[in-house]
Parts: sequence; C-alpha cells; structure tokens
Amino acid sequence: MTGRKGIILAGGSGTRLYPITMGVSKQLLPLYDKPMIYYPLTTLMLARIRDIAIITTPHEQEQFIRTLGDGAQWGLNLEYIVQPSPDGLAQAYLLAERFLDGRSSAMTLGDNIFYGHGLPQLMARAEAPDAPAGTVFGYRVADPERYGVVDFAEDGTVRALVEKPEDPPSSYAVTGLYFLDGSAPLRARDVKPSARGELEITTLLESYLHDGALGVELMGRGFAWLDTGTHGSLLDAANFVRTLQTRQGMLAGSPDEVAFELGWIDREALAERAKLVEKSEYGRYLADIVRAGK
Ligand code: DAU
Repeated sequence: MTGRKGIILAGGSGTRLYPITMGVSKQLLPLYDKPMIYYPLTTLMLARIRDIAIITTPHEQEQFIRTLGDGAQWGLNLEYIVQPSPDGLAQAYLLAERFLDGRSSAMTLGDNIFYGHGLPQLMARAEAPDAPAGTVFGYRVADPERYGVVDFAEDGTVRALVEKPEDPPSSYAVTGLYFLDGSAPLRARDVKPSARGELEITTLLESYLHDGALGVELMGRGFAWLDTGTHGSLLDAANFVRTLQTRQGMLAGSPDEVAFELGWIDREALAERAKLVEKSEYGRYLADIVRAGK
C-alpha cells in the first residue's frame, strides 16, 4: 500500500491486572488461544504494514522476542524498542523516531483488540490521497469517561479530544489506533507531561487538530473493540473470540492466516507453522487452512 510503518506499544506496568502480570507482560497473556499481541499485530497486517516496531519494557523485551521472533514466519520485519519507563503513549513516537525515519505510521496499543467486517477498508481510508495527516477511530462506548473522548462540533467535525473527562462530551472513545504522518515524532517533542506525569497521546493529537489535520473515522455497530483492562473484560474478550471461532470455523487475530491470505507467505511456510503448533487447537485450524489451500 504505502511505506507506512507500524508500531505496537506493548509496555506499561500492567498493575490493573495484578497479580497475573507480576511475572508476564499483559500483552502476552492468552486471549483464548493466542497471545494478546497477535491481535494488534494482525490489525496492522490488515493495514498492509510489514515493518513493525514493538515497544516493550526493558525486562519483558525478551519474552516478546521469544514469542514473535523477527517476524519472517509471517513475511514481516519486526524490530524491538525499549521504553525505559511508562511515561505515556506519545513517547512511543520519540522512541521510534529512528525506526520511522520520517515515514508515516500506524500505531496501535498492544492491548487493543479490533474485530469487524470492513476493518481493512476503514483503515485504507486513512491512506486515501485526500486523507488528513492524522486519522483516529472513534467507537461508541457505555463508559466514555475511561478513555480519550471525541468532542464533536455541530457540523460533525472534531472540536476537541478530552482525556478521561469527568463529564464526557460524547459517547465516542478514541480507540488505541493512530494513523499519523511523518511529523509525529517532531510534534511529540513539544508534548509536555500532563498532571499525571505522562506524555499524553491526546496532546499530540491536539497538535494535528490545531492544524486542521485530524480526521476521525467512526467504527459502527458491526465492529468489536474489546476491552482487556480488567480480569472480567479479559475473560469476556476471550469468550468472544472463542464463540466467533467455534461458530465460524475461522480464526480471529491470526497473523498466520492473514499472512497467508495476503500472499506474504506460501502454503509451505504456513504448513511449517502449523506443524510447529500442531498439538494445539490453533494448530489444527492452521492445518485445515493448509489443506483447503487458496
Ligand atoms: O485504549 C484506548 C485509550 O488508551 C485511549 O482512549 C486513551 O486516549 C489513551 O490515553 C489510552 O488510555 P489508557 O488509560 O487505556 O492508557 P493506559 O495507560 O492504560 O495504556 C494503554 C496501553 O499502553 C497499556 O497496555 C500499557 C501501554 N503503555 C502505556 C503507557 C502509559 C505503554 O506501553 N507505555 C506507556 O508509557
């Protein structure tokens, strides 16, 4: 599609899931039959992005490398970058500045799960020739005060973005998927720490908004944006994936399947992956795909 590069921000302290995350990264916890990070990785792949940096805490980087490797098994180029301390989402653009090398990017949070028919097309709109320099995706939620929230003007354009407002101006949360142009690292340098001491993504996005360069695409009813922030929502998300997969006989959030569908790996490479994981249900799904061919 383009030279856009991908970033998965997968650091953070994970304290909201303690004691589970004392010994393992949140983004590597199981979401039913796959590590959580498979899902955001698949999201970026569906945006046709193959060069992806994974930002982790220093002590967990090795767990991610062991889980994902260099990405060649999916026709990807994976790089790993350390975030020394969780100083905010906008810091990702400073840490990834060298990796991005002036290119535009799509960043997603390692704990954000998107699922829905038409997701590739929705993301492709951020690539259209007349697309704004920055695109974010709004999703209607029952509890907007937990998120960044879109404040719409009367004409439907975006007036402001507000981080965790006590009195939300709308029900539309800004999801953890950001398509920004090559100026993001430069703009991130001007972001000052917020009252809670973080470089807020909302402040970076406001810089685009201020220049009239931020668009919001709304994800409709047909989309699922799953929460993994609490023990209960993590279990709900896993059950959602299980229900979908069992009913449809298709995988959700599988980089193996998507790489094969996109032609980034051939049947032999998929068969090799299926063999590696053949003892699991996931492996049996892959073996079925190999048998069905394309
Ligand atoms: O999930 C979408 C929301 O994500 C947005 O609506 C908000 O605007 C945005 O600020 C963010 O809000 P959260 O309160 O969910 O952010 P949290 O601090 O929980 O971090 C989200 C993920 O990013 C989490 O898995 C940990 C990771 N993270 C976080 C920080 C602050 C990092 O890897 N590094 C960090 O410095």
